[in-house]
Amino acid sequence: METSNKRLLFPLLVNHPHFIYLDSAATALKPQCVLDKMNEYYQLYGVNIHRGVYQLSYEASLAYEEARKKVADWIHSQEEEIVFTRNATESLNKICLMNAAMLNQDDEILTTEQEHHSSVLPWMHLAGKNQCRLRYLPLNESGEITVEVFKNALTPKTRILAITYASNVMGTITPLSEIIRIAHQNNILVIVDASQIVAHQRINVKELDCDYLAFSGHKMYGPTGIGILYGKSKLLKKLDPIEYGGDMNDDVDLHQVTIKPIPHRFEAGTPAIAEAIGLSEAISFLEEQGMDVIGKKEQTVHQYALNLLSQIDDVIVYNPKAVLPIIAFNIKGVHPHDAASFFDGNQIAIRAGHHCAQLMSKWLHAPHGTLRASLGLFNTKQDIDKLIATIQEVIHFFKGA
Ligand SMILES: Cc1ncc(COP(=O)(O)O)c(C=O)c1O
Repeated sequence: METSNKRLLFPLLVNHPHFIYLDSAATALKPQCVLDKMNEYYQLYGVNIHRGVYQLSYEASLAYEEARKKVADWIHSQEEEIVFTRNATESLNKICLMNAAMLNQDDEILTTEQEHHSSVLPWMHLAGKNQCRLRYLPLNESGEITVEVFKNALTPKTRILAITYASNVMGTITPLSEIIRIAHQNNILVIVDASQIVAHQRINVKELDCDYLAFSGHKMYGPTGIGILYGKSKLLKKLDPIEYGGDMNDDVDLHQVTIKPIPHRFEAGTPAIAEAIGLSEAISFLEEQGMDVIGKKEQTVHQYALNLLSQIDDVIVYNPKAVLPIIAFNIKGVHPHDAASFFDGNQIAIRAGHHCAQLMSKWLHAPHGTLRASLGLFNTKQDIDKLIATIQEVIHFFKGA
């Protein structure tokens, strides 16, 4: 459906006409076409996959595998390199656990204070059990990751770099291509958390040359319950699964199992079939809307917001240089949760707190975290005007200004 009012594409916004959604970095809303595709599966061929020897099961298996191909084409990988998981968190945990066997206790995992907890806590857990050491790249004065700092942080013991593509607090984009090139010259595996970038920019894993990459379907207008673990096929083939059960094996004897080739060996049990099909439709939706068009529109609204916020003395914006449409800010002297209740009262959804990236709040010296307004393709300048009006209301209430 071609419409200039993008709100009309999202049933939640149609059902709540006065609701302003500025929390797309937490999860994107779902367009009607994604919901329809999932319903179609349940209503027309909603049976299990890879098992049934009947027509509907073939149809469901085909749709599920076509969804894998859609994701693979979208990020420029091979189908066998795409493993379906529940979310980015599961993907990042699995990559960590499946690679743990190759680590010695002196091996270093490099990461950053920009990471979402799901990118750093699995490694912190391993380090806590003395299975490796965890080190952090220092951020520059704007809170960014730079190539220079990465180069300087390398030691002969560095084995893995676990790094975000884009920060969910700062909205900055990591200069990954150069970092990955240097990492590979030093035999370092690179694991990329692409969760925040997927709804805004195209990803090309071939060009990036990352070894592993993770993201969630729900942040890119797809359903919850489906995530992607991308791994280079030569690496995935060397890993042992950490989950065993139905559908991941070929032959089972009393004391031995032959597991399936990649990627199916990593998908034990009944997968999220409807969700994979919904994710595939979300990719079609993004392609139809045009990633460039989405990016330009979001940038216009983002710059409009930054400009208005910069004119309010009582507002601190922590990331004026953000590339992604994410604004981390606080109202001076007001706890972010107190402010958030005003926004809620005015039907504006924004996030308040640490955004599951507490290291970043600490780096910013924002002990209670920040407010975060994040944009989606349906947001308009009018939404920002209402955000600004509510900020003025908060300032007036707490400061009488
Ligand atoms: C940068 C980043 N990484 C990982 C995640 C985890 O995503 P999920 O909760 O879908 O597993 C998030 C979610 O906010 C995120 O912003």
